[in-house]
Amino acid sequence: GELTVSPPLIDECEVVPRTLCGPGPSDYWPSVVEALTRPVLTFSTDEYFKVVDDIRNCLKYVFQTQSDLVLAMSGAGHTGMEAVICNLLGPGETLLIAGRGIWDDRACEMAKRYGIKTVVTKVPPHTTFVEQDLEPMLRRIRPAALFITHGDSSTGTIQDLSWVGKLCQKYGALLLVDTVVSIGGAPFLMDAWAVDAVYTSSQKALSGPAGISPIAFSKLAERKIQTRKHDPPFYFDIKMLSKQWNCYGDTRFYHHTMSPPLMWALRASLMELCKETLPASWARHRRVMLHFHKRLSEMPVQFYVPDPMHRLPTITTISLPEGYDAVKFAKYMANELKVVIMAGLGPTAPGGRVLRVGLMGANACEEVADRVVQAMADTLSAMRRSKL
Ligand code: GLV
Repeated sequence: GELTVSPPLIDECEVVPRTLCGPGPSDYWPSVVEALTRPVLTFSTDEYFKVVDDIRNCLKYVFQTQSDLVLAMSGAGHTGMEAVICNLLGPGETLLIAGRGIWDDRACEMAKRYGIKTVVTKVPPHTTFVEQDLEPMLRRIRPAALFITHGDSSTGTIQDLSWVGKLCQKYGALLLVDTVVSIGGAPFLMDAWAVDAVYTSSQKALSGPAGISPIAFSKLAERKIQTRKHDPPFYFDIKMLSKQWNCYGDTRFYHHTMSPPLMWALRASLMELCKETLPASWARHRRVMLHFHKRLSEMPVQFYVPDPMHRLPTITTISLPEGYDAVKFAKYMANELKVVIMAGLGPTAPGGRVLRVGLMGANACEEVADRVVQAMADTLSAMRRSKL
């Protein structure tokens, strides 16, 4: 038959170099750029399984877990979120959601689509949970699991998780944690904090490309997966994926074709973190955050999160003075000054005055923080001059 659609005419797509200091994606480590162009890995070779093992070994360090059920999902952070929910809860079970940002809203939406019952308990978005906020809910509802975010990129808060696992154990609930913007940038100890399922993402403090998402399950979670009555979607099924990732020895099972550049890139970004070590990376992110926060005092802006204890080291949320528009502000900075930051999201979007600045991974250094401060100061004066 005749073709009814002609090939499109596509112009060059020029990409202007910018410094990526939004809530993600972050700039790559140079070793990640190199890794992305390495030879294609194929499933039938030993190199493929060496890369699989290398990634799993690095992830055990990065999550601080002795668990064997550690791998990476093909997909962005949302894949990890969906995988922990649909592998651990079945229709009719209850998920308690500790809500303070946009990600717990997403978790709630996902759970509902699986017929999971959801109960949401909230604290104001510029704060975090204390034991008294969660204990009565766990006692009354007896959920199968509790979902909570460690770092929240929509609010710029970090949740103290050191007490949450023990509390969940007391009430027989699994603890599911989102660490998309905290891993590598703030302390996280999966085993010591009794976390049952955790996922993160590659494009934040790991400074890699999006599209491959580390995930880990505790022994308790593993038991639930082995004995559950429901089948999650094929693509998310951890029972099958654990065999593709050789979690229990040399199974070399084929589930789906993983992306070789993303596998190489994740390995490279994890190796950066292992080489630097977790304590050094945590300390660097904290030092740069404090430097950035000190320099912000030169400007007529305010912290969205009033208590310094609740401020996320990787992402700072900043309120602009009355009359400024955060979307326009971020657009001016990206287009005129080549520094990307972003406006508020979820609870920080209404009112249009919140900015989110990420200093993570390769960009967590004083020089980049100073570049952001300068660009913000220049944008403030440009917007003042043009009467916004
Ligand atoms: C994405 O993760 C965002 O926080 O905008």
